[in-house]
Amino acid sequence: MIYANYAATSPALSQAVVEELRAYLSETRLNAGRNFEGLEAGAAALRARRAAGKLFGAAGPLRVLFTSGATASLNMAIHGLARPGDHVLATSVEHNATARPLEALRKNRVIDLEWLQCDPEGSLDSAKVRGAIRKNTRLLVMSHGSNVLGTIAPVTDCFRIAREYGVFTVLDAAQTAGVLPFAMGDCCDVLGFAGHKGLGGLAGIGGFVVGERAAAEMRPWIRGGTGSASDSLDMPDFLPDKFEPGTQNTLGVLSLAASVEEITRIGVETIRERERALTARFISGLGGIKKARPCGTMDPDRSVAVVSLVVEGYSAGDVSRRLFERNGIITRSGLHCSPLAHKTAGTFPDGTVRFSFGRGTTEAEIDTILEALAAL
Ligand SMILES: Cc1ncc(COP(=O)(O)O)c(C=O)c1O
Repeated sequence: MIYANYAATSPALSQAVVEELRAYLSETRLNAGRNFEGLEAGAAALRARRAAGKLFGAAGPLRVLFTSGATASLNMAIHGLARPGDHVLATSVEHNATARPLEALRKNRVIDLEWLQCDPEGSLDSAKVRGAIRKNTRLLVMSHGSNVLGTIAPVTDCFRIAREYGVFTVLDAAQTAGVLPFAMGDCCDVLGFAGHKGLGGLAGIGGFVVGERAAAEMRPWIRGGTGSASDSLDMPDFLPDKFEPGTQNTLGVLSLAASVEEITRIGVETIRERERALTARFISGLGGIKKARPCGTMDPDRSVAVVSLVVEGYSAGDVSRRLFERNGIITRSGLHCSPLAHKTAGTFPDGTVRFSFGRGTTEAEIDTILEALAAL
């Protein structure tokens, strides 16, 4: 088997993560904050907050909040920041994790939503952000790396412009967390991440990092018990409790602590350089395959390790199935939960076959995939 579907999820946990989880499962399984033994789970959460905070340049560990994943985080950011009558900007390559909540708010006449059109490669001209900002623009939502086209968005430029006008910025870092260096800095208000992709943790854990201004302005979207300020029917206004009601996924949090610490030891720059080189090798090999039409940017410096293809004469599903049946190559075909990105690239509604690489991918695997595609 060759796994080329890292954009969906990382296939295996690293040894360091497995050992951490094994030790936890054999020793304790208690809830954070509810009793004395729970201190251990609270300590695991603090460890994960510290590791993730360092990775994303958060102002402190309590600025890292845990959720069930990128989808929950981005919904919380959007619903927590958008107010009735607001004008909201988002790009034309958004994943449904942001596109659907935004579209629902638009349909319910809560917000006025404007999609910023990217070019067919998935690139956005930052001047479009400046041109679109109005008096009532409240929010700019951007996908950092397209899960369909791989293209990396010029978020720093766009967020700087948004900041000039006091617009809140929300970054969907599902495809970039742990594989592309990025620090919150002054311009990013909320960064949502998934634990099970580039960060190498379990599925069912993710979170967001929040800046000072957004932490104060964002309303909790899920409310419930926190084990703190229990005399009040309102959510506490301090972090992390404001955004973390209910029982925490301690196993997930622990997997994140171990995996992010490991990433920090390896260095995101090192991971990025390796994935960039693998992507470059794949893209350059595709040049020799006549009927394969790659979508998105062909510049590996501007792309995460995600490449989508249309193969002349075959449906995307056909290519995916044949590669699996003949060569044991696992890819993903279809619309990848992002109809907008496919409309932008001109591959809607048929979709593409997507190849995505990660920490376990080798050069030999890239070459085998290219040979299989050529044979097909
Ligand atoms: C760009 C992007 N955003 C958001 C998500 C949602 O992540 P999760 O399913 O972990 O909530 C994904 C997952 O595929 C994604 O690729």
